[in-house]
Amino acid sequence: MTKVSASILDCDFLHLEKEIRAVIAAGIDSLHLDIMDGQFVPNLSFGVPIAKSLRKIVTVPVYAHLMVIKPENIIEKFIPHADFIIFHVEAAEDPERCISIIKTSEREAGMSLNPDTPIEMIKPYLQTIDNVLVMSVYPGFGGQQFIPTALERIRLLSELRKETGGSFTISVDGGVSPANCHSIVKAGADILIAGSAIFKSPDYAQTIRQLRCLTS
Ligand code: DX5
Ligand code: ZN
Repeated sequence: MTKVSASILDCDFLHLEKEIRAVIAAGIDSLHLDIMDGQFVPNLSFGVPIAKSLRKIVTVPVYAHLMVIKPENIIEKFIPHADFIIFHVEAAEDPERCISIIKTSEREAGMSLNPDTPIEMIKPYLQTIDNVLVMSVYPGFGGQQFIPTALERIRLLSELRKETGGSFTISVDGGVSPANCHSIVKAGADILIAGSAIFKSPDYAQTIRQLRCLTS
């Protein structure tokens, strides 16, 4: 069954604990933390102190999505506070080293690609990573429109997984909503990451059910 991950970028930060508890009670499968450095992406978000605090109350797996230049410098700081560490292939100086730091620390490793980054860039790592995160918006901000060419990229990755015998999951991040989730899942995505679609909706549980494609 399709899994749904909540990106907290668009939640009510004044009531962060309440928001996290609400979205967990509403049935999310994991929590997605968008870490931005103002350089790899034109925005800043939050960092280790927030991830550390959240870890105390979160009962689902935590994904740290590092949108930072030279992730190899910061990965270790997130190890205690996340189950999956996702870094951008465009931002890493040494992707193999990033994977090795994550795996040695017994965490799951994921790689992400921006919408116009060739899939070929992550091909060499597909046998060793646990997750590929397909960006369906240019990273940096919540609430953007889904870029439809992401669908073809998901299909391609899904085929590559069959061909290479890789066991990575495919997640999709940016502009995911109940209106487009069916086509995203049909293309081969396993995990739908949604921020504004959940946090701007009046009923988190209903939106999460819709994103699972249980109802249309
Ligand atoms: C974009 C982030 C996403 C995004 C999700 O830089 O990686 O996680 O904020 O938010 P929505 O679902 O609103 O596009
Ligand atoms: Zn993200």
